[in-house]
Amino acid sequence: MKTYVLANQKGGVGKSFFVVQFAYFLHILRGLRVLVIDLDHQRNSTKAIKLGGYATVSSLSADALLRESALTIENAEFVLVSGTQELIKMERKEDQHNVYVNNLHKFLTSVSGQFDVCLIDTNPNPDIRQLSALVCSQFVVSPIQLNQEAIDGIGDLLNHPSIGIRRIQETINPNLQLLGILPNIVEPTPFQRNNFHALAKHYAKLLIPLEKGFAAIKRTTAIPEAQAAGVPVWKLGKTSGREAWAQIKPIFEKLAQPLEAV
Ligand SMILES: Nc1ncnc2c1ncn2[C@@H]1O[C@H](COP(=O)(O)OP(=O)(O)OP(=O)(O)O)[C@@H](O)[C@H]1O
Ligand SMILES: [Mg+2]
Repeated sequence: MKTYVLANQKGGVGKSFFVVQFAYFLHILRGLRVLVIDLDHQRNSTKAIKLGGYATVSSLSADALLRESALTIENAEFVLVSGTQELIKMERKEDQHNVYVNNLHKFLTSVSGQFDVCLIDTNPNPDIRQLSALVCSQFVVSPIQLNQEAIDGIGDLLNHPSIGIRRIQETINPNLQLLGILPNIVEPTPFQRNNFHALAKHYAKLLIPLEKGFAAIKRTTAIPEAQAAGVPVWKLGKTSGREAWAQIKPIFEKLAQPLEAV
């Protein structure tokens, strides 16, 4: 099993969209066994996946994966571990932080024969939930919006003292790999175009290369619509859905490549 975490300290950039739709892509179109863990108390991916009805909703909650040890999970091909309000309290229990990381790590190791891939959605705060997920994962995907603040935030994504990807690679998890920064909700304005060029100039290695240029997803009504109904974007059955899927599909194919070697 390979584990992907969606991480970015900015809210509303598309982490939950990515988790839900990538899970659908990997399970429905690729036939992989998928585990989704929602570490965000806002529960956006939980709500969408529950509505969609494709996944088995586990009796385990995401906070239990951090608090408890020796858990077992339902035997199914697509399983959701839901987010809960309990998750908010975990940051304050500092004496338990090591236990949380160890429990999540042990849980993921124990289910690694049951699933091909685990996708972890996170909350947009640099706290123990995000740290645990980064410590226990192989791959990070980081959606961003093309504003100056987000571009300035890339330094933090890499070098933040506790959850910076480089810091974690150097200290606890040398296997962690940033698959890439994914510009999302991109608008065809000169401002965003300039920011994209600046990003490509300074951080080309961090972007996701496709056959033609770098991966990016435009602002579209199809994504919020699909998320609100919990359905795959490609099943929306309208022009906006087909256009959005034409952009998203090659990106998902690229980001699924590490799973082909499984
Ligand atoms: N390309 C897009 N075009 C238009 N809307 C989008 C796009 N991508 C995501 N959205 C919408 O933007 C909102 C925020 O996306 P999402 O919830 O995935 O972000 P997030 O990073 O998980 O946010 P948070 O940090 O608050 O959990 C949602 O309503 C989502 O449907
Ligand atoms: Mg989210």
